[in-house]
Amino acid sequence: MKKKYLIVCASKYGSTTQTGRWIGERLEGDVTVSDAGEMTDPQDSDVILLGSGIYSHTVLSPIKEYVDTYNMVLKEKQTAVFGVAIDTSGVFVRGKVHGGWEYIMPLINLLPNPPVHAGLLGGEINPLRLDDKDKAGLVKFYKMIGQSGEIPFKTRMTKQDSWEFAEKLMQRISQEKTDEAVQ
Ligand SMILES: Cc1cc2nc3c(=O)[nH]c(=O)nc-3n(C[C@H](O)[C@H](O)[C@H](O)COP(=O)(O)O)c2cc1C
Repeated sequence: MKKKYLIVCASKYGSTTQTGRWIGERLEGDVTVSDAGEMTDPQDSDVILLGSGIYSHTVLSPIKEYVDTYNMVLKEKQTAVFGVAIDTSGVFVRGKVHGGWEYIMPLINLLPNPPVHAGLLGGEINPLRLDDKDKAGLVKFYKMIGQSGEIPFKTRMTKQDSWEFAEKLMQRISQEKTDEAVQ
């Protein structure tokens, strides 16, 4: 039977929503892409994907509110998590990981059960679209790391990575089904 996928996105400038749409294009089944703020009920879906843009090392609050609100329903579902960020791999400094997985672990830990798949996907910074507060925050950050106060245009978004995320997710779902049958 066809799976029903619900892709819930917390996105400030649209790159997480775009990534969610790309993932949805590759998933084989019925797909709905929804903004986290819409609080779409996950009850009628089989697999819930939770995506968020990464800001100051963490996910956006609407995605955490979504998970809090539907925690009991999510307990009965398969889930997946994706963060959309500039630094998708992280760095290891003085015994600790900074960036990468560190960004999405708090969201993963909020879920009642571990997600079947999770990962970081490349995001985008377009200085022309940022609000004043985000612009000031980034200028401060770039100055702190010794770069000029200019915010460079950057995109790491690729449809290919999003499709690979979707393919891996479908693989994991069918693997879980096989594991269940064996038990
Ligand atoms: C103010 C600000 C803070 C950010 N902080 C981080 C960060 O800590 N780590 C990172 O990898 N990317 C960071 N980014 C980049 C965003 O994750 C990237 O722009 C992402 O595509 C945003 O997703 P959205 O358009 O769905 O909101 C930051 C961007 C802004 C504007």
